[in-house]
Amino acid sequence: MTMKPTVLIVDDDKMTINTLSVALEDDYSTLMATDGVEALNILKEKDVDIVLTDLDMPEMDGLELLEEMGRMENKIPLIVITGQGTIESAVQAMKSGAYDFVTKPVNLDRLGLLIEKALETKRLKEENVLLRKKIEESLPELKFIGRSAAIKKCEELALQVASTKATVLIEGESGTGKELITNIIHYNSPVAHGPFIKINCSAFSEGVLESELFGHEKGAFTGAVKTKKGRFELAHQGTLFLDEVGEMPASTQVKLLRFLQERTFERVGGTKTYRVDVRIISATNRDLAQMVKEGKFRQDLYYRLRVVRILVPPLRERKEDIDDLVHNFISKFSRLHGKPVTGITKDALGLIHAYHWPGNVRELMNCIESAVVMAKTDLIHVDDIPEYLADHTTQLDPENKDLGLLQELERKTIMETLDKTGGDKVKAARILGIGLRTLYRKIDKWKINT
Ligand SMILES: Nc1ncnc2c1ncn2[C@@H]1O[C@H](COP(=O)(O)OP(=O)(O)OP(=O)(O)O)[C@@H](O)[C@H]1O
Ligand SMILES: [Mg+2]
Repeated sequence: MTMKPTVLIVDDDKMTINTLSVALEDDYSTLMATDGVEALNILKEKDVDIVLTDLDMPEMDGLELLEEMGRMENKIPLIVITGQGTIESAVQAMKSGAYDFVTKPVNLDRLGLLIEKALETKRLKEENVLLRKKIEESLPELKFIGRSAAIKKCEELALQVASTKATVLIEGESGTGKELITNIIHYNSPVAHGPFIKINCSAFSEGVLESELFGHEKGAFTGAVKTKKGRFELAHQGTLFLDEVGEMPASTQVKLLRFLQERTFERVGGTKTYRVDVRIISATNRDLAQMVKEGKFRQDLYYRLRVVRILVPPLRERKEDIDDLVHNFISKFSRLHGKPVTGITKDALGLIHAYHWPGNVRELMNCIESAVVMAKTDLIHVDDIPEYLADHTTQLDPENKDLGLLQELERKTIMETLDKTGGDKVKAARILGIGLRTLYRKIDKWKINT
């Protein structure tokens, strides 16, 4: 047996209540109240699908009931039943959100139809809410977490450029949130409903990348059996995300530069010139300025790409973001894995703060996911933290903050020097004034990626 929808009938006239309830009871379960106050009490306790109410009642009248129901979380449709003399108040009720009204004596057929229509509208609305929730869940996450000035500035910049068509370059180490920022820009832009095309420039060989980006004509090269549209065409009136743009080979850089200057291109093997309206966002974890100096990346292209430049600092330089991130990931993964984990002990959090996070936020997220899965209580303990993290954490004496600072400084200096020498350890050791073996030892101790 399917459940009948519940109708609440509100009228101070018992006769009306009885007539209506008898007429409706085949198709609905009915509840009754003789004034607004009683009706509200029933609404608080029972699942009611629709309310039929008289307007003129002692205690609380129909209009007041409607107003009170408007404040309730669950929106229940209300149909007014009114005497001939009070049509004006019925119209007033409709303006205040009543679904419809019928006049006494009630035409039961018409009332039945109205109830069905109101219930159908309610069902559709509920379905809509569910669908919207589903869509929201399937969208990429757009929450940018962190309280550091640097991260606040990144977010501010992203939202600010979102409303424009400016070309954006996002620079930052691996896992710092470059793609997240790209998502934030696209989904807050006027073309949020337009195409959002992403391509990783390091994932293709030179020739393939060019035809992926700009498309090709049939017969342009062996294997080009069909004409194919490129990502630029697909991204028309939308956003094109060029990930790892630093890996783009020189010949493709030329074509991209031409596009940024003229907004036009030709397909590989084609002569027809295409013009598309595309916003370009590019990202890299390489030091593009350095690559320009070394002649590995075109300077003119670099300037065209970084009309707006967003620099995302590594996590180890904004440790004040760690707590927020940790707590967010805990609630995310405890929900996902159905574990009642709600927090983390001070010691475990200390361990996380001491680590240098070469993989940045992505690595932190993976670490917390694993810790949530491993946790045996509602708190993450040191034991739950992946072991490699504890091993790689510099053993800082908690009593001696200065020593920690000094060590951090040493690590940073070594990293920067290695960066400058392009990883040449012999040169780096000479600059630092230490022996090569000492340098190796320190690289090992600090787990510096070289
Ligand atoms: N500030 C942040 N708040 C919340 N989540 C973040 C933040 N930064 C990064 N993340 C999350 O960390 C993960 C890695 O981020 P993302 O993929 O954007 O990094 P990336 O810079 O593009 O890395 P890569 O250079 O390796 O491609 C994603 O799941 C992202 O949602
Ligand atoms: Mg990325």
